[in-house]
Amino acid sequence: MELKGMVALVTGAAQGIGKATAEVFAKEGASIVLNDINEEGLKKAAKDIEALGVDCLPVVANTSLLSDVEKMYSQAMDKFGRLDILVNNAGITRDSLLHKMTEEQWKLVIDVNLTGVFFCLQGAAKIMRANGGGRIVNISSVARYGNVGQANYSSTKAAVVGLTRTAAKELARKNIRVNCVAPGPINTEMLQAVPEKVLEKLIQPIPLQRVGTPEELANTVLFLASDKSSYITGQIINCDGGWFMA
Ligand SMILES: NC(=O)c1ccc[n+]([C@@H]2O[C@H](COP(=O)([O-])OP(=O)(O)OC[C@H]3O[C@@H](n4cnc5c(N)ncnc54)[C@H](O)[C@@H]3O)[C@@H](O)[C@H]2O)c1
Repeated sequence: MELKGMVALVTGAAQGIGKATAEVFAKEGASIVLNDINEEGLKKAAKDIEALGVDCLPVVANTSLLSDVEKMYSQAMDKFGRLDILVNNAGITRDSLLHKMTEEQWKLVIDVNLTGVFFCLQGAAKIMRANGGGRIVNISSVARYGNVGQANYSSTKAAVVGLTRTAAKELARKNIRVNCVAPGPINTEMLQAVPEKVLEKLIQPIPLQRVGTPEELANTVLFLASDKSSYITGQIINCDGGWFMA
């Protein structure tokens, strides 16, 4: 029960890494604010979380809209009165080669993967400063080093590293730790959109020779959200089967 008595908000938690993280947190005793734009998926996920015996508040909100994020935090505070953990997980891809990438593809990915992360981080930091502390975990990607067809996505995932370190420096004196997990390929719907041949190429340089599971990623996030990482801030942890060495 690493998170007993704590309240955690996980964005993009209707499925995939976000849902697995919320489940791992619930098993450790945290109350959960579960966010997504997918209302149906969110309802199902909330039932699964409640079945684990914890309080769960599902909030439909688009993290890239400040007004939605403000409403989300006010609902969370009305219900729980505190926030200890934020996992900035919501993210999308709109892949295309540079010369074909449209303005819409570019802006949408920047809005969700970067601006949304900033809005949620800023809102959480305001509450946590008043709380006396907190933990924020942002989700980047191995794609932050650059990836063919992902000029938009790679840019946001590199930017999340800068945002993490800036926030970690600014918020440390307020007892708020800010860290980042950078996943390699993880078996979620996002990965299922990747063509088989591209996936084979992705796996080839991974020393562990496989993709990761959402639970493996969630356990890394749990470490950064728990007291077990109490002297760690501004860190980027690769959860990628050793891909970073390739
Ligand atoms: N799966 C991978 O291989 C992988 C690798 C590296 C990084 N990541 C990152 O991990 C995070 C989660 O990825 P996943 O694989 O679970 O993806 P996923 O597509 O399975 O789930 C993402 C969830 O975010 C929600 N979402 C999208 N836009 C949103 C918005 N504006 N507001 C609120 N919710 C929104 C979606 O509805 C969905 O439920 C993302 O940030 C992604 O970039 C994933």
